[in-house]
This record gives sequence, C-alpha cells and structure tokens, in this order.
Amino acid sequence: MNDSFSFEKTILVTGSGGQLGMELWKLCDEYPSYKFLFTTREDLPIDNFKLVKIFFEQQQIHHCINCAAYTAVDKAESEKEKAFLINADAAGNLSAICKAHQAQLIHISTDYVFDGTSSTPYKEEDRISPINVYGASKLRGEEFVLNNNSSAVIIRTSWVYSSFGNNFVKTMLRLLKEKESINVVSDQYGCPTYAADLAATIMTIVEKENGEHSQTGIFNYCNAGVVTWHEFAKAIKKFIKSKCSINPIPTSAYPLPAKRPQYSVLDTTKIKKTFGITIPNWKDSLHKCLSLLN
Ligand SMILES: NC(=O)c1ccc[n+]([C@@H]2O[C@H](COP(=O)([O-])OP(=O)(O)OC[C@H]3O[C@@H](n4cnc5c(N)ncnc54)[C@H](OP(=O)(O)O)[C@@H]3O)[C@@H](O)[C@H]2O)c1
Repeated sequence: MNDSFSFEKTILVTGSGGQLGMELWKLCDEYPSYKFLFTTREDLPIDNFKLVKIFFEQQQIHHCINCAAYTAVDKAESEKEKAFLINADAAGNLSAICKAHQAQLIHISTDYVFDGTSSTPYKEEDRISPINVYGASKLRGEEFVLNNNSSAVIIRTSWVYSSFGNNFVKTMLRLLKEKESINVVSDQYGCPTYAADLAATIMTIVEKENGEHSQTGIFNYCNAGVVTWHEFAKAIKKFIKSKCSINPIPTSAYPLPAKRPQYSVLDTTKIKKTFGITIPNWKDSLHKCLSLLN
C-alpha cells in the first residue's frame, strides 16, 4: 500500500453546511493526512442521540469539530427548548460520546455568554452572565461539554462572517449596493471574526493535539482590533466604494427580540500563547473576504 494515500486520523465536522463548517471544508485539501467527514443537519442531526451513537460506533473518529448549533439569536427567544436541545443537550451528548470513543472534541461557543457590561476585554475566566436565550443555551452547552469530557476544547468566538452563509458582511454588501442611506448601530463594540481564520486556528489545535502539546479548556478567538457595527459597515463601504450613507444609530433605535451585549470584546492572549498562533487584524481579514465576494 502506498503510504501517501493512507489517512492518519479522521476528523468529523458536524454542522458543516454553516459558515465555519464550509470554511473547514475549503481548507481540508491543505491537510491531506487527515480524512474529513463533513456532516450536515440532514445526515447527522446532533440532537438525534441514537444516530450520533451509531455514527461513532461505525466510524473511527479521532477529532470532532462541532460546528453544529442553533444560531438564530432572535428566534431563540421564542424557541427556547429547541435552542437548548441543540446548543446544550446535544453538545453535551456529543462530548460524552467523544470521551467514550477517545475522540478529541473541539466545540464552538460564543461571546454571548458574557453580559457586555465590562469595559475591558473579556478573559476566559471572567464572570459569565448571558442576557439572552441563545447565550444561556450556549453557556449550558459549555457546562455540559466540560462536565462530560474534561479533555474537550471550547473556543468562544464573536461576530462571525464568511463568504459562505448569511452574515452582517453579506447583508451590508447588498444594502450598500441597493440603498442610498442605511442606519447601523454605533454603540455596540465587538471583534469581528473571519470564519476562515478560525477554521485555520482549529486545524492548528488539531495538529497540536497530535503532538505533545495537548491542551484542554476554554479559549477565546476573534480577529484583532475592536469596532462598532457602524465602523464595521463603514469599512465595507470603503472597500466597495459605495456612495450609500451610513447613519450611526443607538441600539435603542433598532429594537430586536434578543438583547445584545454592549461590549463584546474578547481577550485572545490565552489562545495565542498556548498554541503559538498569530491572529490577523479584523480589517485585513475583512478585505480577504470582500475580495472573494466582490
Ligand atoms: N455566527 C456568529 O456570529 C457566531 C458568533 C459567536 C459564536 N458562534 C458559534 O460558532 C459556531 C459556528 O457558527 P456559524 O456561524 O458557522 O453558524 P451557522 O452558519 O448557523 O451554522 C450552523 C450549522 O449548524 C447546523 N445545525 C443546526 N442544527 C443542527 C443539528 N441539530 N444537527 C446538526 N447540525 C445542525 C445548521 O444547519 P441548518 O442551517 O440546516 O439549520 C448550520 O449548517 C456555532 O457554535 C455558533 O454558536 C457564531
């Protein structure tokens, strides 16, 4: 048998039809020594515990990257049970199954576990206190994941966008081309995250796990720099040279079913030090994504 065609380890990516899952799919060719199994909600619904159990019995999984989540932040306010089933119970179940099969779990969580009242970047160990149902369901998911499997890695990220799926960047691109003037919230601060950068970091963590530096626990990841949604929109406008005017508005002028944290800035010192990664600035990554989209 030709060794160059033998896969070393198998990586299961759940929820692979979403932004992050698609970015992992896009870079998987750069990792030829891994066999990737990309599953969607249709072929592996993580809330079907029986199916997940059978899947792990039939396939030898070494790493599981859980990109599956209930991410409809506003809808979650009226679909609490569904959000908790997918983001908490199903994540916890996946974690227990990974432990039983000695597979490394990399689970994705959110800045929405914090209430946004801080004025300095949130560290992993800072007080958690979600202010909406989605955040509460993701926090319960973190707890279940770690209680069931102390070897799991959880990455908290924020303001995710990609050339795949629906997100703020793609909405702005459309509106900036269609409208003469738009209103964008200017009193919420956060860190945009290009899902392609997060996907590359996840693969670095997978590779470290295969080496001597296996690490567990919670890590923050977002691009470097802090912006408001208004500043973020202005950077998109500048890139595409749109003539549309972008008016700054307060959160109170744009009421939504779910409350948003006012200050959602994550401190990424721990992930940079632990895994020896450098994190691109939000503007450089935004330009990469816009070059693909435009
Ligand atoms: N997007 C953000 O701004 C943001 C911010 C912070 C953290 N995060 C976290 O980052 C991770 C990745 O987010 P993303 O932006 O890639 O989300 P996404 O684009 O919404 O993708 C989530 C994927 O999960 C799938 N899914 C939903 N229920 C499922 C189930 N029961 N079983 C299997 N798959 C299921 C969805 O399929 P359908 O589309 O068919 O439902 C979708 O393909 C999530 O854990 C999310 O909570 C995201």
